This record gives sequence, structure tokens and C-alpha cells, in this order.
Amino acid sequence: MQEQAAQIQAEALAAIEAATTEAVLEDARVKFLGKKSPLNALAGEMRNLSNEEKPKLGAALNAARQAIGGALETQKQSLQDAADAASVADLDPSLPARILPSGALHPLTVVKDRAIQILRRLGFALADGPEIETEFHCFDALNTPFDHPARNDSDTFYFDSGKLLRTHTSSVQIRTMEKAAPPIKIIAPGSAYRRDEIDATHLSVFNQLEGLYVDKDVRLSDLKGTLEFFYRAMFGENTEVRFRPHFFPFTEPSFEIDVKLQVKGEAPKWIEVAGCGMVDPAVFTQVNESRGDQAFDPAQLTGYAFGMGLDRLAMIQYGIRDIRLLIENDTRFLSQFA
Ligand code: PHE
Repeated sequence: MQEQAAQIQAEALAAIEAATTEAVLEDARVKFLGKKSPLNALAGEMRNLSNEEKPKLGAALNAARQAIGGALETQKQSLQDAADAASVADLDPSLPARILPSGALHPLTVVKDRAIQILRRLGFALADGPEIETEFHCFDALNTPFDHPARNDSDTFYFDSGKLLRTHTSSVQIRTMEKAAPPIKIIAPGSAYRRDEIDATHLSVFNQLEGLYVDKDVRLSDLKGTLEFFYRAMFGENTEVRFRPHFFPFTEPSFEIDVKLQVKGEAPKWIEVAGCGMVDPAVFTQVNESRGDQAFDPAQLTGYAFGMGLDRLAMIQYGIRDIRLLIENDTRFLSQFA
């Protein structure tokens, strides 16, 4: 009987080794280890044996079951390995990887985010306003007389309704003061529109960042310190900043700000980067009229405002010589920032 057990074992191992699919292997498992297996039948005859013979047969049966179980495991694993190998047979791991183009922020976005980050450190909160504006918010409330050249059809995009595409973000100054009470300390990045002849430094849509600070005792020296700090944080600690007297209807006194730029191999030059000034009291008066109260008392409050060109910042930061590159979405240009 022990021999019979050994024979069954041999038969089982041969069947297992010959199994080339999982299904055939499973059949072999059922056949040789299942309830109706020949080993079980053999075990059923145990009771007919002498006490001496019984343990011998028991040992032989155990050995056979173990051998069969082990062989099943081994064969299952090798079938799995073969399947895995087949599934990657066509793969050539030595081929260069397919290069996925990586995205990146647009240079304008990078510069805008940095500008916001620097100004937020100085306590400015973000504000916003519509790009389709009323003449009141874009001009009248900003003390800009009816016959000011900026209001011409030839300079500004007007809608039939009389509304217009804002020519600067300064309209957000008015929008903010209409809604909130002083003190106010906001920045407002956004698009502005002008009917400019398009060339390397002009587009009909461009980007500005407006700033407004209104409180008791805000001084010109605060404006100067803030903007000097800003441009040094932006372009480097040694950046020279110049305030050049100018005129804006809504600030008095007013300045244009130049930053001295040193391009390698060229003579240093001053580049205009912003307009600014102390809020004209006439603006507070207009705001009060619009609000219907005296929240912005020109006798109590002072303020400063600035408006900087973000496209200009990006062009300076990255040495971009043609502003049109910023909106053409040419990947040969944009991929340089990825
Ligand atoms: N709005 C002005 C412009 O677009 C810039 C400016 C903003 C000037 C705030 C003074 C104060 O040119």
C-alpha cells in the first residue's frame, strides 16, 4: 500500500508538471487532493491494516500529500511568471522614454504672483472690479474732465450703451471706496484696454496692478518707501528707483516711476514702470457724493495710489523685447519658461 501511495504521488507530480494552464492545474489539484482522490481512497483502507502497518501508511500518505501540494504551488508560480513575461515580451526597456511636455506658469502670471506676494507682506489686501466700466468709475470719479484726451473715441473702446473697457485699473480705487470705509489698503491686478497702435511695446489689452492706501496721515514718504521697497524686492536690493514729476487728474502731486536697468553690455537706462501720487481730495469728494455720506472726509484723510504695468515688469524680469510675445501663445517662446 505504501508503494501505491508512492505511485499515486508520481502520477500526480507528472500531471502537475504537464499542466500548462491554470485550469488544467486546478483539475489536477481536485483530482489528487480533492475528496475523491485516490489518496483518500487509500486512507479509507487504513482500518484493515495491522497496528504496525497503519503508521507506515499514514506517513506515506502525508508525504505524498505534501509533495503534491508543494508541486502545485511551484507550478502555479511558474505559470504566473510565464504569463508576466509574455505580457512584457514586446517591451524594449532600452528605448528612450517618451517625453511629456511639462506645463508652467505664464511669465506674466509668475510676475503678477510675485508682485502680489510682496505687497501682501506690506499689508495690502486684494480687490477687484469690472473690466466693462462706466464713464463715472473710469473717469469722472477720478477727477478726469470731459474733454480729457484719454476719453476720446480714438483712445478708448466704448460700447453703444455708453459703457467702456476700462483704460486703467484706477477704477477699482473708486469701486473699493464706494463699498468700504477707511482705512483702505488694497491692490487690484487686472486687465486694461486702450486703442493703441500695436507694436513691440503696445497692445490694446495690457495688465496693470493698482494700489490704494487711504488713512489718516498717509504721506508721500510712505508712498516712496513702499514703492522703493517693492521694486528692490522685485529686481534686487541695489535697484535704483526714480520719482519723476508728472500729471494725473486723480493724484496731486503725481509722479512717474522709473527703474534703472543695467542690461549686460549696454549703457544703463531708466525705464518707466508706474504712475503714482497722493490721492486728489476731489476724488474723495466724488466718492462721498456717490456713497451719499462723508466717510472719506478730505479734511481728515490722505492717501496714495499707484498703478504699475505688469507686462512691463515681466518684460524687464525676463528680458523680453516684444510685448506681443506675451499674448501670442507661441510654444517656442512659452516653453522657455517650463
Ligand atoms: N492709472 C494711471 C495710468 O494708467 C496710473 C496711476 C495709478 C497714476 C494710480 C496715479 C495713481 O497711467
